[in-house]
Amino acid sequence: MRIAMIGTGYVGLVSGACFADFGHQVTCVDKDAAKIAALCRGEIPIFEPGLDALVATNVKASRLDFTTDLAGPVAEAEAVFIAVGTPSRRGDGHADLSYVYAAAREIAASIRDFTVVVTKSTVPVGTGDEVERLIGETNPSADVVVASNPEFLREGAAIRDFKFPDRIVIGTSDERGRKVLGDIYRPLSLNQAPLMFTERRTAELIKYAANAFLATKITFINEIADLSEKVGADIQEVARGIGLDNRIGTKFLHAGPGYGGSCFPKDTRALVKIAEDHDAQLRIVESVVTVNDNRKRAMARKVAHALGDNLRNKTIAVLGLAFKPDTDDMREAPSIPLITGLRDMGAKVRAFDPASMKEARRELPDIDYCDDAYSCAEGADALVIVTEWVQFRALDLPRLKRIMKQPIVVDLRNVYRPAELEELGFAYTGIGRSQA
Ligand SMILES: NC(=O)c1ccc[n+]([C@@H]2O[C@H](COP(=O)([O-])OP(=O)(O)OC[C@H]3O[C@@H](n4cnc5c(N)ncnc54)[C@H](O)[C@@H]3O)[C@@H](O)[C@H]2O)c1
Repeated sequence: MRIAMIGTGYVGLVSGACFADFGHQVTCVDKDAAKIAALCRGEIPIFEPGLDALVATNVKASRLDFTTDLAGPVAEAEAVFIAVGTPSRRGDGHADLSYVYAAAREIAASIRDFTVVVTKSTVPVGTGDEVERLIGETNPSADVVVASNPEFLREGAAIRDFKFPDRIVIGTSDERGRKVLGDIYRPLSLNQAPLMFTERRTAELIKYAANAFLATKITFINEIADLSEKVGADIQEVARGIGLDNRIGTKFLHAGPGYGGSCFPKDTRALVKIAEDHDAQLRIVESVVTVNDNRKRAMARKVAHALGDNLRNKTIAVLGLAFKPDTDDMREAPSIPLITGLRDMGAKVRAFDPASMKEARRELPDIDYCDDAYSCAEGADALVIVTEWVQFRALDLPRLKRIMKQPIVVDLRNVYRPAELEELGFAYTGIGRSQA
């Protein structure tokens, strides 16, 4: 099967490389000439474990290539995937669909034979209808089916998620469209991955409902964590105690500084707007958005509290900047409001992240970036763990204690056991653990 992937970001590059690995012929297209030039040189523009080897293997086997020219690959393709960004529209929280619609118009102009145009980007309900209308308007003779195939991969585990998905959702009622997408995903359905065929609008809503549910689960446990602190309970045990109930499940029950990333914040906001547009208020999701935004801002106050509510001339060492481990993605990362808040309160901030410091410099240009966890902690008044990279799980604690100015640890991911740190002489603050 010949596939054109429009947009070569986290989703487009991973999906394109995985489709090529299934044996399809894939061309990844992007408007960003620097990104395509890097890929053509064999460089991977994002940090995603295993992606470099997967791309290299498939380029070598001549199944995967990269270009800025959309017309050629689209004319040749049996399926064209749209995997461009759908960020929050400035000011109002709606999904910004300008990249999707621009791509749809460009695709329309280049379509030759029967083609399935698939939105993989996360798009509001009804976007497929508009993509279909735009293609018909631009190229009335184009023989196309427009389908929805939302993507559920997680950054940091993207290849595994793509190759071993919990389900694949295909939204189209057209038989030709179902056949082409069924063939593309055959290697996975042969491997027992459930392929769910549904209507296009239903597929579009499934993606937002899934993300909103997961964001709700995180926000729920974060609020229970706050209560745990007040009543003297331990949120780690509360989460385990409820998560072992099969109806609840243990995943997405890790209390922390609030969710961030390229998906949950913008997708929950967009879902609230979709509902408003259709006169169907989603009060739970509205609350999740507000509670999470407030929580991210409150984390700087939590750190200040651990230092006696005075950060003037204090040096804070921040470990982890990316919104989660195993990615360099800084979009809406909790580290950003945290560090901004710490600086507003007069602190000097130093930081270290194994992958995201290049990205972070754009968002946070005025802090000191360090080479490793220990140079970051040297002389600091407090150490704050923001992202739970595996290398922060086994720090040399006695060494940290020796090099820090004050042995204060604020662990926003509950990586360490309070008793262990207290025994070593640290003042420890976690999330949802009694501060008594
Ligand atoms: N990142 C994730 O973990 C994830 C997971 C599931 C779904 N999604 C969804 O997938 C979509 C893409 O997300 P992403 O994180 O890969 O975005 P991204 O910003 O990393 O990549 C998007 C790419 O599209 C390119 N682009 C924009 N317009 C183009 C055009 N007309 N022609 C060619 N290229 C164009 C951009 O240059 C950019 O490289 C979004 O809708 C997102 O919500 C993301």
